[in-house]
Order: sequence, then structure tokens, then C-alpha cells
Amino acid sequence: MQASNGIYRVSGIDFVDPGLAEAIDSGLKRVEDLLHAEVQSGFEFVTETSLHLISAGGKRFRPLFTLLSAQIGPRGDSPDVVTAAAAVELVHLATLYHDDVMDSATMRRGAQSANVRWDNSVAILTGDYLFAHASRLVADLGPDAVRVIAETFAALVTGQMRETRGPGSGDDAVEHYLAVVAEKTGSLIATAGRYGGTFSGCPPEQVAALHRFGEIIGTAFQVSDDVIDIASPEESSGKTPGTDLREGVATLPMLYALREPGADRLRELLAAPITEDALVDEALDLLRTGKGLDQARETLAEQAAAARTELETLPACPARDALASLTHYVVDRTG
Ligand code: IPE
Ligand code: IPE
Ligand code: MG
Ligand code: MG
Repeated sequence: MQASNGIYRVSGIDFVDPGLAEAIDSGLKRVEDLLHAEVQSGFEFVTETSLHLISAGGKRFRPLFTLLSAQIGPRGDSPDVVTAAAAVELVHLATLYHDDVMDSATMRRGAQSANVRWDNSVAILTGDYLFAHASRLVADLGPDAVRVIAETFAALVTGQMRETRGPGSGDDAVEHYLAVVAEKTGSLIATAGRYGGTFSGCPPEQVAALHRFGEIIGTAFQVSDDVIDIASPEESSGKTPGTDLREGVATLPMLYALREPGADRLRELLAAPITEDALVDEALDLLRTGKGLDQARETLAEQAAAARTELETLPACPARDALASLTHYVVDRTG
């Protein structure tokens, strides 16, 4: 926890209230300990492949959001909140192992992705192992929590499947994209908020508001990830720029760029997954200098405003202010 001029910075978020900063900082440490303990296996290789991405870093955005949401309720420091936060991160981690296989990605969290360091089978099985351990943790939270994570996982997988299939012939491409990102990313972040509210003892209407807020910032989080895939260098994202272009995944900044007059060359380049480095660079240049990125940032600003409206229904307190900072962080991280 770093402090300067009365502002405390934990995991990239600014806190004015030192007690809240301390609670989040110590909650994140408990989550970290639980993640390490949970993935230990009698077969050491499985522990090693699981710890590969846990130790490589990552923002721990979902546990952070779970812990912050829990500070709205009367029992924010409950052990169940830490269990829920760790379970959500394990589900997320599992999807990263699988996603890198699907996207043929070579870098993750600034390290080699597991599919490259080992192979696709190891990456897939590690993801499955992490899902299994997430389920084991959620079992301690009761049958409702199990149902919630099962439904969340189904939504997430449906989003990945919808992305893989692409829009149908009569579908609007932007609507299709927004449905994909709400499912593949918004659903789990929504559940992080819901779990935080539930296990800290918030009344149902506050749990529902945290869930809705999570879905909106989760969707925005994916839009900013898609802006970063075009706009940010490897050193800051820890991933290879242009992965979406190589995979032929049409993201929001691309869809907006394609609507601009004179986008013929870009349309030609984006017609299929791009395999040649020089063509990826050409497409990235066109996208970086065109209007699509700014339009996607405008969408992000609208989503941030909608998220802040959800927060207004929660009681005014330092945790609510920190959730507002989280909204800024999601939008501003695209630079
Ligand atoms: C990456 O998530 C995948 C998305 C859903 C955008 P994060 O950006 O949270 O990845 P880590 O956990 O920090 O590595
Ligand atoms: C990942 O989406 C979403 C999930 C893992 C569910 P992306 O494929 O866009 O994420 P990154 O950019 O590889 O992290
Ligand atoms: Mg990916
Ligand atoms: Mg993907």
C-alpha cells in the first residue's frame, strides 16, 4: 500500500479513507494466500502449471471488485468474502488458459502463455483444474452461490461461443459484439459484485445494484481491453498487440472504423484473420490513426456514466467512492 498526500493507492485504485485502503490491502493478501493454497496438488507439475499465471501477475481486478463491493455491507471482512473473491479469480484464470488456446496467444501477464510454454493440452487441462478448484471453494458458500457460479460460467462460455461463431447474416455487428462482451466478461464481473454484496450481508436491492454495476463495468472493461489490443504496447499490456486481428475477432474499435468513409483498405485487411506481421502492422496503423478508437472511447464514457448512475442507489460511504474510482480506472486504463 503506497501513500502520498493523504491518498492511498492499492492495486492501481486511489483511496482517501485509510481504513478502507487497509481493509482492501489485507483482503487482497488473504485472497493471494488462498489462491496459492488452493491449487496445490499431489502431482507437482499441476501445481507448477497452475501457479504459472498466478505468479506472473495480473491486476486481480475481480477480487478487488469483490472486496470493494463487500465493504458496502456490514460484514465486509467476512472469510466468505475472501473465499468468493478467490473463487472468482480462479474462474477468470481458468478462462485465460483456455482463451489463449482459442486465440493462439503467445503472451499473457508479461509471460509466455501456457500453450506456448507447454502445449495446448497442458493449457486446457490446467484451465479445467482451476475450474474444479473454483467449484470446490464455492461449495463452501452454499447452494445458491453454486447455482450463481454455474449460471455465470454458462453465460461466459456462451459469449465465447457467440464470438467464435460471429454475427448471423441479419445481425447488427455492434449489437452482436455488445452481447458477446456482456456474456464473456460482464457476467463474471457482475457475479463478483453480487458475491461481495451477498457475503457481506447487504440487503437484496443493494446486491442487485452491485450486480448491475458489475455487469456494466465488466462490459466496459472488455471494451477497454479491445482498445488496448490496438493502442497499447506489449510492455504495458503484457500481451501481444493485434491478437484480435490475427484471430479475426472484430472488436468495437474495428467495427466503428469500418463504418467510416474510405475504409476500403481496412475492410480488405479485416476480411479474414491476418497472418502476416506486415499486414497486422498496416491494419494497426490504420486503426490507430482512424476514428474508431475515439468512438470506442466515447462508448466507454457512456458506459461509465451508466455505471455511476447505478452507484447512486447505494448508501454514500467511502466504499461507494472507491467504486466510482474503479469506474474511472476501467475507462482511463486505455490511455
Ligand atoms: C483479461 O482480463 C481478459 C478479459 C476479460 C479482458 P484482465 O485484463 O483482468 O487480465 P489480468 O487478470 O489482469 O491478467
Ligand atoms: C477474453 O477475451 C475473455 C475471457 C477470457 C472470457 P479476449 O480474448 O479479448 O481477452 P485477452 O485480450 O486475450 O485478455
Ligand atoms: Mg484472448
Ligand atoms: Mg478471446
